[in-house]
Amino acid sequence: MNVSILGIPMDLGAGRRGVDMGASALRNAHLAGRLRGLGHTVTDLGDVPVALPETLDKHTNAGLVFLEPILDACRATVERIAELPEDAFPITLGGDHSISMGTVTGNALRGGGTGQRTGVIWVDAHTDYNTPQTSPSGNIHGMPLAHLTGLGDPRLAGLGGGWHVCPQDIVMIGIRSVDARERELLRGAGIKAYTMKDVDQLGITRVTEETLERLSGVSRLHVSFDADALDPGVAPGVGTPVPGGLTYREGHLLMELLSESGRVTSLDIVEVNPVLDTRNQTAELMVGMAASLLGQRIL
Ligand code: ARG
Ligand code: MN
Ligand code: MN
Ligand code: MN
Repeated sequence: MNVSILGIPMDLGAGRRGVDMGASALRNAHLAGRLRGLGHTVTDLGDVPVALPETLDKHTNAGLVFLEPILDACRATVERIAELPEDAFPITLGGDHSISMGTVTGNALRGGGTGQRTGVIWVDAHTDYNTPQTSPSGNIHGMPLAHLTGLGDPRLAGLGGGWHVCPQDIVMIGIRSVDARERELLRGAGIKAYTMKDVDQLGITRVTEETLERLSGVSRLHVSFDADALDPGVAPGVGTPVPGGLTYREGHLLMELLSESGRVTSLDIVEVNPVLDTRNQTAELMVGMAASLLGQRIL
């Protein structure tokens, strides 16, 4: 495959500093080399420009912390991704999870037209379905999915000229932290969410099979992998750790089964926080996840 790597070194959407260094940590953990070793052609497109928080006033715009610079970075991301050819496999490196408003939209627009029907597999401890009205924190990394479906602030929801993902085309996996009003909003939204309880009861194989079955009608399939989906025991370098996450093998098996399906067309790796990590182990872990998604096998 023709893999294109794009960094979005942004931590403006998160409540604590450090995930802006995630893109650098993933490159340091030899992402490109690992994928070349699997036979892929890999091009690193560099980084999208992102404002430094130290240069900004931390003013909150109607419940949205750092709205304007996040909008700027997401707009630039949409542009960079949308211009890539249809057969490219973009890997976007966060950065906090607010980058996905730009990456998912850019991928839907890739190849021209007004936006492909795109399935989104959201691998995360959190549902990231807050709006400015329901968010307890005002942190935009807790809001990308709501905005991708068209809810929330019209500037964020309007990225890419108003393309939206259908709630029926979203599947969440690994969920174990949902805010009270976010839960109300999710109820009846039509989004499928596999909580950790579901993963425990059904097993990750059945969860993955059902996910692919549910998303059988989409023409693009995007995986947005928040490192905090994994258990903090194996992925300590994240800003919002939640106990009881996916094991190392559950994470890999999910990626291996998605890889076997041959249907995934783009990937985000987000929320890696080197400041909180130990010897870059979380970045290395996530590079391994990407390798499994792109065809690495045990035998
Ligand atoms: N639900 C919390 C909030 O809205 C935490 C969100 C964490 N999101 C993330 N991408 N790590 O602030
Ligand atoms: Mn997230
Ligand atoms: Mn998360
Ligand atoms: Mn939109």
